[in-house]
Amino acid sequence: MHDQATRMREAVRAYAEGARSARPYVLTVTSGKGGVGKSTVALNVGLTFAMLGKQVLLVDADGNLAGLDVMAGVVPRFRLGDVLRGDRDLESVLITLAPGLRLLPGSSGETHYPLLQGERQAALLRDLLNSDQRSDVIIIDTAAGLTPEIIRYGEEADSVLVVTTPEPTAVMDAYAMIKVLGISAPGQRVEVVINNVRAVREGEETASKLRAAVKHFLGRELPCAAIIPRDEHAGEAIRRQEPLVNAFPRSAAALSLQSLGHALMHDHVQGALTRTVAL
Ligand SMILES: Nc1ncnc2c1ncn2[C@@H]1O[C@H](COP(=O)(O)OP(=O)(O)O)[C@@H](O)[C@H]1O
Ligand SMILES: [Mg+2]
Repeated sequence: MHDQATRMREAVRAYAEGARSARPYVLTVTSGKGGVGKSTVALNVGLTFAMLGKQVLLVDADGNLAGLDVMAGVVPRFRLGDVLRGDRDLESVLITLAPGLRLLPGSSGETHYPLLQGERQAALLRDLLNSDQRSDVIIIDTAAGLTPEIIRYGEEADSVLVVTTPEPTAVMDAYAMIKVLGISAPGQRVEVVINNVRAVREGEETASKLRAAVKHFLGRELPCAAIIPRDEHAGEAIRRQEPLVNAFPRSAAALSLQSLGHALMHDHVQGALTRTVAL
């Protein structure tokens, strides 16, 4: 009896250690156009994952115009720029935003922010994946645009969310991002999030037009991960410097961000982590 209990405890400990040493699941949140809701999605999905019991590391990779710290109401002493310049190590700049949710704050307006290219970015990604044993999921919130740095964050992820609004310019830019990612990382799992819609129908039409264009011109499927309503609580949460799902958990946008988090966890994250542990 005693032996059996001991064996059981050892098995549980081995499983827990295995789970911790598994490669974190990497989710990159990106877009073509700016201001479409990437950071809103990254922060609130990150918090939802954390509420589901995952250890989440949120990386503010928005080059030199970071904002997640402001959205979350924290004032970092050190930032990504300090890590890239070799002045601080990664762990020491992380800030705990909530139980299970840590932020690597991005740099803002630094004139000597190092250009993140090639080997330097690869080293950062390696450090994020390897040195940080405590993360189950890493969410990378990128800047807008089609720069090599941003594309690389897409290539290196386990899956990518491309955020757009229904505005034709944003949709065109989302298409461009999906096209470029399709060329540089053909097998990559890419899904679209339609944010800031005035009505569900508008979101569905946007998703279906984009899906049709991607199918016709790029020959690939484009699942729609979420349609998020336009909701004044999103702006109000930023003014309060609190994540939307905390500040207004019953608001329409918060509910759809939470269900996006749950769906991603169900469809990809949990399965991938379990598979990694089993290997
Ligand atoms: N669903 C939404 N409804 C209304 N406003 C939104 C919504 N999502 C984002 N916003 C607003 O859009 C602006 C840009 O959002 P943000 O998440 O910072 O975008 P990005 O990271 O793509 O630049 C913010 O002012 C935010 O409050
Ligand atoms: Mg942003």
